[in-house]
Amino acid sequence: MQDILDAIMGAEGSTDPARELARIAGLPVPRTYRGMVVRAEDTAMFDGVAPRDRDPRRSLHLAEVPTPELGPGEALVAVMASAINYNTVWTSIFEPLSTFKFLQRYGRISELARRHDLPYHVVGSDAAGVVLRVGAGVTRWQAGDEVVAHCLSVELEDAAGHDDTMLDPQQRIWGFETNFGGLAELAVVKANQLMPKPRHLSWEEAASPGLVNSTAYRQLVSHHGANMKQGDVVLIWGASGGLGSYATQMALNGGAIPVCVVSSPDKAELCRRMGAELVIDRAAEGFRFWSDEETQNPDEWRRFGERIRELTGGEDPDIVFEHPGRETFGASVYVAKRGGTIVTCASTSGYLHQYDNRYLWMHLKRIIGSHFANYREAWEANRLVALGRVHPTVSRTYPLEQTGQAAYEVHRNAHQGKVGVRCLAPADGLGVRDLQLRARHESAINRFRGR
Ligand SMILES: NC(=O)c1ccc[n+]([C@@H]2O[C@H](COP(=O)([O-])OP(=O)(O)OC[C@H]3O[C@@H](n4cnc5c(N)ncnc54)[C@H](OP(=O)(O)O)[C@@H]3O)[C@@H](O)[C@H]2O)c1
Repeated sequence: MQDILDAIMGAEGSTDPARELARIAGLPVPRTYRGMVVRAEDTAMFDGVAPRDRDPRRSLHLAEVPTPELGPGEALVAVMASAINYNTVWTSIFEPLSTFKFLQRYGRISELARRHDLPYHVVGSDAAGVVLRVGAGVTRWQAGDEVVAHCLSVELEDAAGHDDTMLDPQQRIWGFETNFGGLAELAVVKANQLMPKPRHLSWEEAASPGLVNSTAYRQLVSHHGANMKQGDVVLIWGASGGLGSYATQMALNGGAIPVCVVSSPDKAELCRRMGAELVIDRAAEGFRFWSDEETQNPDEWRRFGERIRELTGGEDPDIVFEHPGRETFGASVYVAKRGGTIVTCASTSGYLHQYDNRYLWMHLKRIIGSHFANYREAWEANRLVALGRVHPTVSRTYPLEQTGQAAYEVHRNAHQGKVGVRCLAPADGLGVRDLQLRARHESAINRFRGR
């Protein structure tokens, strides 16, 4: 592994980084590698503990695992950096179910997929690094290419997935519903997950947008999602969080008017730094949409709607960017404009939603379900980052062995933007190849740093 890292570090400051990186093709593939795993034997360890009290630091372990055989159409990537996504939090607290069930189900579909069904799960759905090897039939990528990986894994053997690949019946999220994920020194991906690494970004910056940026793109911008247009008022929950920090940037880039909802003055300040003018601090303003576990409080929906109108000059949101779920969904349906869209990709606070359907049908609103992104959408989202039109939102990074702590902070909602993880990268700030483009965007790239 050290030889691989030396070859990658050889590109640092070189006038011809591609030549340095091409050396990787001649290096042997390590038989084992270090990866962050959950263990099948631990799946019952939190029984009787409420999900919010489960501690990822107890279930995530650094383990030396065998390097899997590379199959046709796959690539082995030396991972320089990855990032924490909420799906790693779900895996680590075994909620709403153990991800070993996903691995078993995947393992049943073919001989090749059987490799994934193991008593350990190497987690992680983001990666930036260098291609080490490609499997049979891969022509687009080769050893030495600097890449990021998006997390859509599809088999595409069924007609259903050939219009929109997210509709493939064998659609999975890599590193969550498959093994050999990105929180590790090596990762196995399907070659069609690879995209060019934005050249003006460091490894940890390049690794951090992937999953959330692509998801926000489909959810907000794509015609499969809310199909946002200029002038739309977009209510964005968790606007300084993983998804929200990208949704906010896309709303601003696309000429829409974001109304950012956050829960502290610090987070409100981050939204303003991104360029948003309309911000609601839900904690400071004390919104409580539920009177008790079973009963919502429509007076609070109304107060929230009035606050939005106060900020927008009387307009309601054309689009509500939803993901908190149970706690906010009733309010989201209520405040959306007549004919407006509530687009949801998650249920962090609970997946059994309640809303008053009269406000949906009488006011001709729509609820759209959205999940990750197809290859094209992920590529478009990565292109925006590569062009310097959407910027990473890394607030801090941890070394691979402290992934548990990083996931713990995301679980406690004690983070801002994205939390990065250095896998092979020995420090932050490495891997930048285009210094000129970086110089133009340096302050925007660092907006979230140290927060
Ligand atoms: N389907 C998909 O493809 C997909 C992709 C990515 C993520 N997700 C899911 O989306 C959710 C969010 O992911 P993320 O990466 O954005 O996480 P994140 O970085 O933790 O950000 C979520 C934000 O939501 C806000 N929030 C949390 N609980 C809330 C509540 N009860 N009421 C109102 N706001 C609340 C928080 O902001 P404030 O406290 O500042 O308000 C937080 O910053 C997770 O459940 C994740 O699994 C789904």
